Amino acid sequence: MFDLSSYNTFNLAVSAREGLVVSEVADLENLPLPLEEPYIILGGGSDVLFTEDFVGTVLINRIMGVSITKLPRRADSAGALASAAAAASASSASSSDTAASAAVAFSAEAPVADASAADSYDSDSAFEYVVRVGGGVVLDDLIAQLLKEDICGLENLSLIPGTVGAAPIQNIGAYGVEIGDFIESIEAFDLRTGETKVFTAAQCHFGYRYSIFKEPEYRSLFITHVTLRLSKTFVPHQNYAGLQSMEFKDAFAMRERVIALRNEKLPNPKYVGNAGSFFKNPYVNADVVAALQAQFGTKVPCYPCEDGRFKLAAGWLIDKANCRGLKHGQVGTWGKQALVIVNLGNAKPHEVLALARYISAEVKSKFGIDLVPEVRLYGKHGEIAWDQI
Ligand code: EPU
Repeated sequence: MFDLSSYNTFNLAVSAREGLVVSEVADLENLPLPLEEPYIILGGGSDVLFTEDFVGTVLINRIMGVSITKLPRRADSAGALASAAAAASASSASSSDTAASAAVAFSAEAPVADASAADSYDSDSAFEYVVRVGGGVVLDDLIAQLLKEDICGLENLSLIPGTVGAAPIQNIGAYGVEIGDFIESIEAFDLRTGETKVFTAAQCHFGYRYSIFKEPEYRSLFITHVTLRLSKTFVPHQNYAGLQSMEFKDAFAMRERVIALRNEKLPNPKYVGNAGSFFKNPYVNADVVAALQAQFGTKVPCYPCEDGRFKLAAGWLIDKANCRGLKHGQVGTWGKQALVIVNLGNAKPHEVLALARYISAEVKSKFGIDLVPEVRLYGKHGEIAWDQI
């Protein structure tokens, strides 16, 4: 029996039949393959709800290590960066993969591109940084460490709980930025065949809280490394309400502001069990937005999408359905952000599920809109779809 209570940020007392902490790729290579089903791969456990004890094996990604390659920026750099990532992968694997500690270990890579080409540039804006990261590195630790080296791009994702290996699966995002915007490639170990597969960003089909890694046929892939393309040129993304009309002198100032915003609105999973936004923001047609505007005035938070639809704020809908700050036994919704379900003490999985069902039923009956969980649901035998639970 493997206790999962410290491996899920809801802090639910659940277990798996077996658990394995994977700290290097060799741990995967040593497994009897194909790995016996069912199995689940976990990063920080910050986006999952175990609805009951799991009868299979849980693999916990703790592959550490960060290596940075500096390259001259090119107008069309995608191909150059892909080959640099592959070279970095070959040259750094043995040194960085074994750094199984919470600290982010950096190893500076020699520039893969021609050094004389690099010399012809005279400022940092002329370079890009290809950063290859072990899937078990905590994303926020990575962001903080990269900023110490003035490497920016990820600052709007500050304080999002979880690991780098899990980040692309949901294409996590916040404050107008998604991790997929910075991904160059992903390396994954196939637990069926033992092969290592490399995916370019285009092959990942990133969308809103989506990548191909959520599809059933990709669930045997253990993301060992993620390669990001970043730079030292700070480009502020501040179209989000809490960031507008502000001056940010650098990426560090942006990180500080994002951290303050998150701390203001969201419960810290260190102290209050939760898995962030429980539901996804739903896409609706213009007529649904018009009906809401007629009812609530024009202040309906929604974002127009390219396909003519609108993304509505699920938290706002839940709030307007009178479900903000609810308490049902040991579970509730957060008073400052109704989209977050919280464990108020010793919540049981079925209580979390019951509250989620209650919220979605209230929103459905008041607005006719279906909410779908953003968190992944795992039952006795593995992942379960919301409509099958
Ligand atoms: N709102 C309310 N009442 C609430 C909650 C929200 O009126 O109880 C309103 C807000 O005032 C705002 C709008 O709804 O006008 C949107 O709320 P917010 O700005 O807090 O963002 P969100 O759409 O609820 C998304 C992500 C968050 C991310 C924030 C910030 C999803 C499902 N959630 O939340 O991601 O941090 O934007 O960019 O896309 C997560 O994925 O776990 C997560 C926290």
